[in-house]
Amino acid sequence: MKSEKKKEIDGLTDGVSDSTKCAAGLSPQSQGLPLSDRFPQSQGLPLSDRFPQSQSLPLSQSLPLSDRLPLKETPALEGSVAWEAPSNIALIKYWGKYGQQMPANPSISFSLKACVSQTKVHFKPQSGGGVRFSLSGQQNPDFQTRIEKFLNSVELHYPWLREYALDIASTNSFPHSSGIASSASGFAALALCVEQIDQHLRLTAEQGSAVHHPEPSAHLADAHFLNRASQLARLGSGSACRSVYGGWVQWGMHPATPESRNEYAIAHQSAIHPVFTDYRDTILLIHKGVKQTGSTAGHKLMEGNPYADARYRQANERIPRLLSILASGDLTEFGLLVESEALTLHALMMASEPSFMLMMPNTLAAIREIQAFRKQNGLPVHYTLDAGANLHLLYPAQHETEVMLLINNSLMQYCENQAYICDSVGTGPRPINPLV
Ligand code: DP6
Repeated sequence: MKSEKKKEIDGLTDGVSDSTKCAAGLSPQSQGLPLSDRFPQSQGLPLSDRFPQSQSLPLSQSLPLSDRLPLKETPALEGSVAWEAPSNIALIKYWGKYGQQMPANPSISFSLKACVSQTKVHFKPQSGGGVRFSLSGQQNPDFQTRIEKFLNSVELHYPWLREYALDIASTNSFPHSSGIASSASGFAALALCVEQIDQHLRLTAEQGSAVHHPEPSAHLADAHFLNRASQLARLGSGSACRSVYGGWVQWGMHPATPESRNEYAIAHQSAIHPVFTDYRDTILLIHKGVKQTGSTAGHKLMEGNPYADARYRQANERIPRLLSILASGDLTEFGLLVESEALTLHALMMASEPSFMLMMPNTLAAIREIQAFRKQNGLPVHYTLDAGANLHLLYPAQHETEVMLLINNSLMQYCENQAYICDSVGTGPRPINPLV
């Protein structure tokens, strides 16, 4: 890319340094500071540590959150824990819910590598509890209220929350006003922190203060820990339950995967074709403004949607179809399925009462360019959308050069401030330094 084409977003540059390279990740300039500087203690873990083998439990072993007995006496400890968790993009969409954050249909997503939240929780004894939340060092009343509500709602499962004050500091690797929701990565990171504190208090209460606590990275190999964190994250935001795992993740019960449940997500680690293990997702930031209707209100509108039953049937039929595509590596079938899912999601929004539309004229213009490019070049470049105007461009790593040319020549003009983010399938959450 010619240097004059590099654009600033909110004083941040986009993530691209030359026209044919889109290395998964944001450039250091994109956030002012590299991740390691924003979280000085952050420790890189070897991939094998970040992506343990057993991440889903046989059904007989998964525990409901309510399974644990309350501590007889809560130990008085002070300390901090910190986790990084990824955002994720669903290919089969969760849209519609019931009860306590239960999905109306199963969904499948992959976790991103570059778009992550880092959350640090300082805990100290304080009668009656208390929560303080900051995002990038700033207090945010809306987030503060949502997080307080969430933590109050899970006090039953974590009674020590009534006896501890939590100071929660979070940062996102992606620009705050980019239109990329931080609820999935944010709630996943917070759930991992809360679950780690819970384990810490329990171990201390059961075995005394001299107990040897596991390294935080050991939690990544602890299927119970991840299972509980996924359940807890779900109660904060449905899609967040998928963000406690890396790679391809399913949330919601389906007979094709007997271990799947509505309460938590499971990681699909076997039978993923190599082409999908580092699949690229370049996010075109079409519109950064506040959405007309948020996801939670959108889910609610499915209750009166005349197409809801047909949609839930369709999503269920699509789960085994996507799983077999992920195993075979059939990119043509992949494209047909994921683009139909994206447009179905937005069609459901338009068919709601009251109806709403989150796509923007530039979303459609960019879709047309992608279709024309595919017709001309025959390359497997497809798109998906989440609940917003931004387009996720999905393609195999081997076609990065051609796709970057497409972006620079034809698609960047549709992005607000010509901004986009280069991302790909990621390996999941990681603890940031053992601080306890
Ligand atoms: C379109 O998880 O953000 O991105 O559970 O109300 O917090 P709440 O909703 P949220 O919904 C995500 C909807 C989606 C599809 C998906 O991620 O599966």
